[in-house]
Amino acid sequence: MPITIYQDRIFALHTNHTSYVMKKEENGLLSQVYWGKRIDAVQDFDESSLRGENSYHMAADQAMEEYAPFGGMRYKESALKLEFADGTKDFRYQLAGYQRMENGLELILKDEFYPCQVKLIYRLYEEEDIIRRHAVVENLGKEDILLEKCASAQFGLAGCDFKSLQFNGAWAKEFYKKQDSLQGGKKVYESLRGSTAHVANPCFVLHRDADEWNNDVYFGLLAYSGNFKVSLEATPYDWTNVVIGINDTDFSWVLKPGEAFETPAVYAGYSAEGFSAMSHRLHQLQRRYLMPKTLSDKPLKVLYNSWYATYFDVRCEQQKKLAEKAAQAGVELFVVDDGWFLGREDDTRALGDWTPDPEKFPNGLNELIDHVKGLGMEFGLWIEPEMVNENSRLFREHPDWIYRFENRPVLKGRNQYVLDLTKEEVVSWMLETLDRLLSDHDIHYLKWDMNRAISETGAFGQNSVEHKMVWHTHMTNFYRVVRELRARHPEVEIEACASGGGRADLGAMEYFDEYWTSDNTDPLDRLFIQENYSLLYPAKYMRAWVTDSPDERKVSLPFALHVSMCGSLGIGCNLNALEEEKLALIQEQIGVYKQIRNIVQFGELYRLTSLEREEIQTVEYLLKNQGVIFAFLPQGRFGKDRFRVKLKGLEAAGTYRVTDRGKILEKSGVYLMEYGLEVNLRGDYDSCLIRFQLL
Ligand code: DGJ
Repeated sequence: MPITIYQDRIFALHTNHTSYVMKKEENGLLSQVYWGKRIDAVQDFDESSLRGENSYHMAADQAMEEYAPFGGMRYKESALKLEFADGTKDFRYQLAGYQRMENGLELILKDEFYPCQVKLIYRLYEEEDIIRRHAVVENLGKEDILLEKCASAQFGLAGCDFKSLQFNGAWAKEFYKKQDSLQGGKKVYESLRGSTAHVANPCFVLHRDADEWNNDVYFGLLAYSGNFKVSLEATPYDWTNVVIGINDTDFSWVLKPGEAFETPAVYAGYSAEGFSAMSHRLHQLQRRYLMPKTLSDKPLKVLYNSWYATYFDVRCEQQKKLAEKAAQAGVELFVVDDGWFLGREDDTRALGDWTPDPEKFPNGLNELIDHVKGLGMEFGLWIEPEMVNENSRLFREHPDWIYRFENRPVLKGRNQYVLDLTKEEVVSWMLETLDRLLSDHDIHYLKWDMNRAISETGAFGQNSVEHKMVWHTHMTNFYRVVRELRARHPEVEIEACASGGGRADLGAMEYFDEYWTSDNTDPLDRLFIQENYSLLYPAKYMRAWVTDSPDERKVSLPFALHVSMCGSLGIGCNLNALEEEKLALIQEQIGVYKQIRNIVQFGELYRLTSLEREEIQTVEYLLKNQGVIFAFLPQGRFGKDRFRVKLKGLEAAGTYRVTDRGKILEKSGVYLMEYGLEVNLRGDYDSCLIRFQLL
């Protein structure tokens, strides 16, 4: 039974290996009492979990509440803050009821005096050991309620000695992993940029002494691409308070009579077997339930992207030549990045004018598309629909369509403004413009970019509260446009990009088929970015292009190819200027990738060794009885050329045929997992691809 309820006061959510237990306390508060390995005897939890209240310690402040409102005598980080029409600012609730749902549970917290309730909604993914949580606040009265904070979920973890992993990156430095110790006070990770952004990911990953394979990890990922906040607080009462959801900075929501506010969901779980099991559970959940169904069980094609080859200088003939080389190499999807639309000579102009530039494409874009299709490839385009340049037709016609404050000069980022997506006319324009682009051309793929943060959100109305509704409204309308576009063009693959990996989150995953991982394509940096990225997101969503090597780093092409083959392979070299032997090597490796991509894109990923600790990075992908291993030695030292690596996930009693650069071995699963496989690498930037198969 996934849900057990004991005497209407203990509520236990069970997945295959975990239990999450809540309790209605004697004073009516709802608290969390346990999260960890599965315990079926839930009646054992029927003892008071609240510490005794005394003159100095207030019960509600101490309690590991399931969804603590601001107010009362609570001083911990809250999940909810609201104001009733008469100025009363606290939500004084009782657990008023519950309802079982298919694979889930709904708990209802009702205010004791005011017509307002909060539903806490849980859905269980038993096999993946993950719980989905979100909250819905309902105004049941006749007057407005002002919401000032409405998190998706709150979690309590016993103890104040956790370590927290976060990804405090920057542009071209995505998924830069840091570990904080939570011993006292509060740690906040957030975005206030109107997108997920690079500075943190909307997630928490907490542990004490976990490694890849051992010990407890608690994790949760927010399915939201806008301003978020993750607050981790070591309370004075020896438990850690985790609150995750929409950022409350510059957020308000007016809840009119009869209306409800629904938060984004959090997908949370517990692993007793370290980070590896966490990643497997998350990847499986994403593959089975979150990715758009159109492509979730199909491998992504090998693409070519023109950005690093031609930047803004896009011309029909030069793109045709690139396409010919790409087809020769085995590319399946040819993508023209920025620079294809009306007057786009550089980044100061043309955003918003989404029609092909007649000077660059005198016979229209279809000439190039037909050429690409004639070469046996599909065609794709770059767009950045939420933005406009001052120097554009769109802005000249609609100068009032951007976020701005009336009496100040408007700020530009990358020379562009952000379109005011809270205006219905802008939403319709965007949808119709993109719809027309896709209807008029045979386009199979879009790269949806976002290259500046949102600011000066003053366009929604004159009322200062409505200004604070802009951030979230922008996000819901952005999702609405993508959802409707996908419904009209279900065959089109869409990649999420925001100056690289600034939109890698589970909110975007519901609408996009992949993420552009980073503008940083340096193979060595990528090894770190990709390893950390894989903690949360699967290889399929990690687009990885091979580009021309920068002068300062002499990375070998085979190494660069292997790095990109660890995700969804793309090519971004200037093929028009590439030597024939390099093109032949790319062609050969694209051929290899096509043989193994199902394993890479759908297999279980094991981070066998890491450059954080070891001399080589080794990553294994295992799909049923077949696997591949990529190994990377960036800098050999002291002539060492043999590294023993223990494989994971194999059948101990089975025999595996291992193929390593022409050498074939047959070894038992237990040997490969316990003794290990010898990997031979030497010198600088050496790498290899090893394949294995259960006999
Ligand atoms: C930022 C993206 O991350 C790049 O890949 C490229 O598409 C440029 N924008 C184009 O302006």
